[in-house]
Amino acid sequence: MIQKGVKIELPSGKLGVLIPGLGAVSTTFIAGVEAIKKKIALPVGSLTQLGTIRLGKRTERRVPKIQDFVPLASLDSLVFGGWDIYGDNCYESAVKAGVLDKVHLEAVRPQIEKIKPWRAVFSQDYVKRLQGPNVKSGKNKMELAEQVMDDIEQFRKTNKLSRLVMVWCGSTEAYLKPAAVHGSIQAFEKGLRDNDPSISPSMVYAYAALCKRIPFANGAPNLTVDVPALTELAQEKGTPICGKDFKTGQTLMKTIIAPGLKSRMLGMNGWFSTNILGNRDGEVLDDPDSFKTKEESKLSVLDQILQPELYPDLYKNFTHKVRIHYYPPRGDNKEGWDNIDIYGWLGYPMQIKINFLCRDSILAAPIVLDLVLFLDLAQRCGMRGIQEWLSFYFKSPMHATGLYPEHDLFIQLMKLKNTLRYLKGEDLITHLGMEYYD
Ligand SMILES: NC(=O)c1ccc[n+]([C@@H]2O[C@H](COP(=O)([O-])OP(=O)(O)OC[C@H]3O[C@@H](n4cnc5c(N)ncnc54)[C@H](O)[C@@H]3O)[C@@H](O)[C@H]2O)c1
Repeated sequence: MIQKGVKIELPSGKLGVLIPGLGAVSTTFIAGVEAIKKKIALPVGSLTQLGTIRLGKRTERRVPKIQDFVPLASLDSLVFGGWDIYGDNCYESAVKAGVLDKVHLEAVRPQIEKIKPWRAVFSQDYVKRLQGPNVKSGKNKMELAEQVMDDIEQFRKTNKLSRLVMVWCGSTEAYLKPAAVHGSIQAFEKGLRDNDPSISPSMVYAYAALCKRIPFANGAPNLTVDVPALTELAQEKGTPICGKDFKTGQTLMKTIIAPGLKSRMLGMNGWFSTNILGNRDGEVLDDPDSFKTKEESKLSVLDQILQPELYPDLYKNFTHKVRIHYYPPRGDNKEGWDNIDIYGWLGYPMQIKINFLCRDSILAAPIVLDLVLFLDLAQRCGMRGIQEWLSFYFKSPMHATGLYPEHDLFIQLMKLKNTLRYLKGEDLITHLGMEYYD
């Protein structure tokens, strides 16, 4: 049967971008979009802005830009709003984050100064290292969720928005195990009313977004929407969701290099990663409870890519260690070191060393932009629930029960582009290519 594509509603009107957490990543994203709109900087790192997609046979030479192929919201249509526990406006917060230079920040100051955070849903039980004054109060978590919904409605009305998307850019919360309260929508709603400790603030925002049919992406490793109650709610409301934990820095490198080593059947004894960073994220991760959430997210990647159960001669019992050190002098300019112990023909050992001097928020900002635009597209295409095709952007991609997540960056990219081809009724590309030799 020939696939004719799906009906895609066009992106008319303004798109509101709701962000819990106006810190380094989100202010770099917002200021960056404003700078790009002013044409004083380029959207480097963004697939929606710079990427292309091949269509049909290689001989057809049809390679449009992704943004010309699928109807994405324009950067001019984006309106930003957010919550934070500190009262700093977006400009002040960006200055404190110290990611962007003065020349970029001053150029967009009038636009970003206007963005003042609403009071946050917050409790130190989930982020021990932070304490701020700009926090909501309510008799229970359900009431806090209703206050978030009120903020959203106010924002929608004031800015005459046609659609909204929410991306969690708040701090990493303490490690939470899936519990009975996450098992169904009813149990979750009861938990909100009973102030159940297994419901974290990020879940309160996610619940509020989903009740309003607003697509939700989770940029941190917290459970958040990755629980049956909220994935069910997303299905029920016909709303797309995705997560967890933006794939940047060392994990990005892992998902580029590990598939390459595996594809050549090279063995691995161990991979040791350590890094220093000095931003607020680093400070939060200095707390063992928050670090545990991050560690789980970072550790799962190699096992899933290398599949030791399928390749015991190559990957059985390899050692994988991840360390993060909070080191204030570095600010957002993280430095990571990786030592990879590999072996080749007849088991002869070799080593690879990677020293990545990266900028965390510079790598994360284009991911936020792409997620906003792709989630909005998904909503307009009638897609609902977990969006596995957006795994490309995450360290711990959400996936259906019973499946393992796909971590290989190149498979993830193929899946993303094939999803776009599918939506538009173009042939999927298998890379078989026998027809060229018939
Ligand atoms: N930068 C990266 O490369 C990267 C990669 C993957 C994941 N992340 C995750 O993205 C998140 C943001 O990173 P960042 O570098 O911007 O951190 P950040 O500390 O600069 O910003 C986080 C902001 O969230 C606020 N916050 C915390 N709890 C909140 C709540 N309940 N409601 C509203 N605001 C809240 C904090 O006050 C802070 O301003 C972190 O969870 C981080 O782990 C970042």
